[in-house]
Amino acid sequence: MDVYTRLLEQARLAREKAYAPYSRFAVGAALLTEDGEIITGCNVENVSYGLTICAERVAAFTAVAAGRKKISGLALVADLPEPPTPCGACRQVLAEFAPKMWILCANLEGKQRIFRLTELLPEAFAEFSS
Ligand code: THU
Repeated sequence: MDVYTRLLEQARLAREKAYAPYSRFAVGAALLTEDGEIITGCNVENVSYGLTICAERVAAFTAVAAGRKKISGLALVADLPEPPTPCGACRQVLAEFAPKMWILCANLEGKQRIFRLTELLPEAFAEFSS
């Protein structure tokens, strides 16, 4: 099984763990570290809606907390007619750790699109430009 297929499978499984009683919209993410480890996340909502955190950020923060900041790519799965792309906030968070990463977006029917983060968030904010 290739790495994209494994990531998509893990993102699908992670999606099943979503806590989304308010939107009823479940999202799963699976992040690939440069050393080949897979770290997953799902969206976690809150009764105070603004405290909700997206699947992509749960995966990214879990990776950082595990000491894995070198990220190659991320797979994202949701049940939409077209593959979902990450929200703007998640794009900026991912750019902090892996500006060159790829993002594989898929729906449950297996329809896929792959992007570079730089395509999805050109000119990301950076405090110190080089
Ligand atoms: N959501 C994600 O998990 N990732 C995204 O990229 C967009 C939105 C979640 C947040 C919320 O729990 C639900 O989807 C509806 O917006």
